[in-house]
Amino acid sequence: MSFKADFMWGAASAAAQIEGAYNEDGRKNSIWDVLYEGHTKHNDSPHVACDHYHRYKEDIALMKEMGLKYYRLSLSWSRLLPDGTGAINQKGIDFYNDLFLELKKAGIEPMVTIYHWDLPYELYRKGGWENDDSPLWFEEYTKLVVDKFSDKVKYWMTINEPNCFIGISYKDACHAPFLDDKNALISCTRNVLLAHARAVKVIRERAKITPVVGFAPTGPIYVPENKSKEAYEKAYALTFSNNIRGPFSMGWWVDPVILGKTPKDVEEYLGVKELFTSDELAFITQPLDFLGFNIYTPAGINKENSCYQTNEYEGCPRNTLGWVINPDCMYYAIKFIQDRYKLPLLITENGYCGNDFVMLDGKVHDPQRIDYIQRHLLAAKKAVEEGYDLMGYLYWSVMDNYEWAEGYDPRFGLIYVDYRDQSRILKDSALWYKTVIETNGENL
Ligand code: GAL
Repeated sequence: MSFKADFMWGAASAAAQIEGAYNEDGRKNSIWDVLYEGHTKHNDSPHVACDHYHRYKEDIALMKEMGLKYYRLSLSWSRLLPDGTGAINQKGIDFYNDLFLELKKAGIEPMVTIYHWDLPYELYRKGGWENDDSPLWFEEYTKLVVDKFSDKVKYWMTINEPNCFIGISYKDACHAPFLDDKNALISCTRNVLLAHARAVKVIRERAKITPVVGFAPTGPIYVPENKSKEAYEKAYALTFSNNIRGPFSMGWWVDPVILGKTPKDVEEYLGVKELFTSDELAFITQPLDFLGFNIYTPAGINKENSCYQTNEYEGCPRNTLGWVINPDCMYYAIKFIQDRYKLPLLITENGYCGNDFVMLDGKVHDPQRIDYIQRHLLAAKKAVEEGYDLMGYLYWSVMDNYEWAEGYDPRFGLIYVDYRDQSRILKDSALWYKTVIETNGENL
């Protein structure tokens, strides 16, 4: 068995990481536009990023050249509703309409993430996700985008990785709004999951084309230490535990959404008796068509008398952010997630960052990225051969971009971006990925 004939091959991006034009045509600030200061590598800001707002036609032409069938993008809330609620920015609507038209002309199907971390700053001033009105704000925003774009968009993801924009943004202060406040986690968890459910309901009720709706979380995936049944069960249990990595864990977010349950260890971690009432859980469990998952690296736990975790060893392969490379995490992610949640699975992100640069021949040679993708796709294929239902694979990222707190140094893209003049070059990996798509993965 191989990948399905209609396997969804594509690549992904997010508005705040590529669009730039942060204060143009009526757009107002998102939290990242303001709060990045003093928190990011080299103090890099997302204000210009890849200037995709002005260069989307050129970028879509490159996507076409590399044969992408699907393109996962997110919408900028503060471009569409500059204050988060209320007045609509027509120029923002026009931008996305033009972009969807251009994708259509290129024969590329859009997949829209409604929220990828860039909360309008005005809403943050009102308390952001801690404010119990935030599910209503998100509902208003979702109604707008569904009403405006659902004649052109069929595939929707409500929210990308609450594990990060709450899990490591309100704990450990790694991402905007850079807080470390355990109490905030209670209201943020509640509001984000209620917002997700409201959005799913709105999409189903108002979409013009029958929608395909999912969620795009991440979470630590533990790889069994050996081939024994015990090691398998231990890795599964660690993967779905919520007290090691707290709100970065997968079950924290996905168990309520799909299983309709709040994990006990989440309530213990937060020190609450009942995070959601049974009525709320019934509401949160809005039916989904698929589960997305973003997977880059295996997780580990501390080893006795060692500076290394269980997923590491001396000199093990890593990307330039230091993340361990082990494609088994892809294989076990698919197995563990589908065994537990039973929904068709879409890999919504997977990718490698390097310090790519333009070489003497004017090209960007990135054999490590090719190898990374190849290994992870082979691992995915192994799970497919065992009967797991994988809908598709979206490489992160379509182009080099603003890597949040890490700034512009880590380059994940298939397209190289020179930020000095915004010129683009298709990397070797883009040309290689084209052949993978053309052969539906038979050449791996
Ligand atoms: C994900 C995130 C992306 C991108 C990627 C690589 O967590 O959704 O926006 O930054 O990691 O770090």
